[in-house]
Amino acid sequence: MTGKFITFEGGDGAGKSTQIRRLATALAARRITVTLTREPGGTAVAESIRRFILSGRAEPLGAEGEAILFSAARADHVDGVIRPALARGEWVLSDRFADSTRVYQGVSGGADERLLRALDRVAIGDTRPDLTFILDVPAAVGLARVRGRAGSAPDRFEGEEIALQEKRRQAFLDIAAREPERCVVIDATEPEDAVAAAIWNAVTARLLGEEAA
Ligand code: TYD
Repeated sequence: MTGKFITFEGGDGAGKSTQIRRLATALAARRITVTLTREPGGTAVAESIRRFILSGRAEPLGAEGEAILFSAARADHVDGVIRPALARGEWVLSDRFADSTRVYQGVSGGADERLLRALDRVAIGDTRPDLTFILDVPAAVGLARVRGRAGSAPDRFEGEEIALQEKRRQAFLDIAAREPERCVVIDATEPEDAVAAAIWNAVTARLLGEEAA
């Protein structure tokens, strides 16, 4: 028996970490064993790569160099954590996965699409998510949440940041439109409980159907 693989994607301030924990709790209440993980990270090597990238030291490598690093981390994460857990019949929930590379390094960074496809082949092979939640919020709302305030007008730099985030938001929505059998877009401006309910409904309809029957 193999388990199910669910990923959570979206821009900053969409509430991914809160919602992924809530889904883990709801699944555990159904006696489903859950492996909760995140990217970049998930294994010792991948966490080192995470620290290296998030410190900003990888920036001189450009978007393609970063994509290679994210993919190296992903390959180790898939081999060391995700595939073994699925093989044990567990459900794997990952905070970000390959769609983040497509959006951050590909669309907003300009990394070559053929390179990204080749990296996916090496890093994930056929370990593709059964279900991907795109937590969608307008960029301004997400950034205000990250900064812990709402309502004040953005300054010039924040305006640029908002435009970039909005481009990423659209890129996630485009992925969802291209792959509706895998992706579900969730309106993450709704209150936390409503977002959790929408996620649970999609999990029930798409993945628990055969078990509930
Ligand atoms: P993190 O602190 O985990 O942020 P978040 O809570 O938004 O997920 O940092 C992860 C950052 O790395 C985030 O800005 C998105 C970025 N990222 C990429 O650029 N490419 C990737 O492939 C992944 C997995 C993440």
